[in-house]
Amino acid sequence: MKNDLFLRALKQEVVPRPPVWMMRQAGRYLPEFRALRDKYDFFTRCQTPELAAEITVQPIRRYGMDAAILFSDILVIPQALGIEVQMKKDFGPYLPNTIRSQKDVDNIQLPDVNESLGYVMDAIKLTKEMLNDEIPLIGFAGSPWTILCYCVEGRGSKSFDKAKEFCFTQPKAAHEMLQKITDLTILYLIEKVKSGVNAVQVFDSWGGMLSPTDYQTFSWQYINQIIEALKDHAPVIAFGKGCWFALEAMAASNASALGVDWTITPKLARQFTGNKITLQGNFDPSRLLSPPAEIKRLVHQMIDEFGKDKYIVNLGHGILPHVPLENAQAFIDAVKEYS
Ligand code: CP3
Repeated sequence: MKNDLFLRALKQEVVPRPPVWMMRQAGRYLPEFRALRDKYDFFTRCQTPELAAEITVQPIRRYGMDAAILFSDILVIPQALGIEVQMKKDFGPYLPNTIRSQKDVDNIQLPDVNESLGYVMDAIKLTKEMLNDEIPLIGFAGSPWTILCYCVEGRGSKSFDKAKEFCFTQPKAAHEMLQKITDLTILYLIEKVKSGVNAVQVFDSWGGMLSPTDYQTFSWQYINQIIEALKDHAPVIAFGKGCWFALEAMAASNASALGVDWTITPKLARQFTGNKITLQGNFDPSRLLSPPAEIKRLVHQMIDEFGKDKYIVNLGHGILPHVPLENAQAFIDAVKEYS
């Protein structure tokens, strides 16, 4: 690997500067992405290896991040489980046949990974060829809890209260569903590593909806199963949005890094994790709307606060669609200029 800063940070090695990438970097803020979006619908882009690979490398060509993340979606897992997923314009994901009963859960059967998700493996192989060992490729999955949120709720939500209600009123069915999602996710991520990804990230975008106790019961224990199953295959990054309260437990796991959002200070995040694990984050995505000079100042301050080692510069959540191109540039350049 010509640029292995990202992999070295995951191994806690001393680096000249921290690596940088941005969650959702292959996305709508890029005109070249929007051009393809206007031609092909969402799942066509995910399922056509040439399109997925091209979209994955678009941000790298423009900005030269230190890692690429495969263009795909966390909702390919419910799809592979036989649950219909639509991506509606100006609405987001829509799953018409929600999972709300024991019977619904009983009807879910684990598919063969290569039959149902082989297109992802093909996209990985093609992307690896295009990247030509310049930088590592990250593969990802949603956390079982975050996937369950969409399966039960059927759409995005501010509170995911139907998903919580399902867990609290039908815990047996909920746990069985979470386990089915976990089992498929493990097979899926191992296959992704075999196809060429150099690290995997688990996105627990809605973990912060749960109380600290419920988080352990309905989310963390399943993420930890994934970490344990993957740890001998590739480094695992666990990103829990709003999950600062669980950082101590997360740091005791075999994850290689933990993603943090912007609602915690670097100092507290280091304190909660005993400074013994690589951290990734945590720039407020809205702060990319500040002028470039201000972005650079804030990025340098953030690196000073986390420290340059055991650290991966990132946003605290996905990049917003209306971020100006030069502001994204300022974010990446600020890291490369750091010394
Ligand atoms: O990070 C990357 O650049 C890789 C691509 C990626 C996408 N989705 C592409 C995408 C990744 C890592 C995801 C993960 C994902 N998908 C998450 C977890 C991360 C997070 O942001 O919390 C979640 C919750 C989803 C589910 C999802 N997919 C939603 C809620 C939406 C619609 C909302 C929106 O932002 O439009 C999507 C669609 C989606 N996935 C888009 C992209 C680029 C935008 C729609 C499009 O391209 O037509």
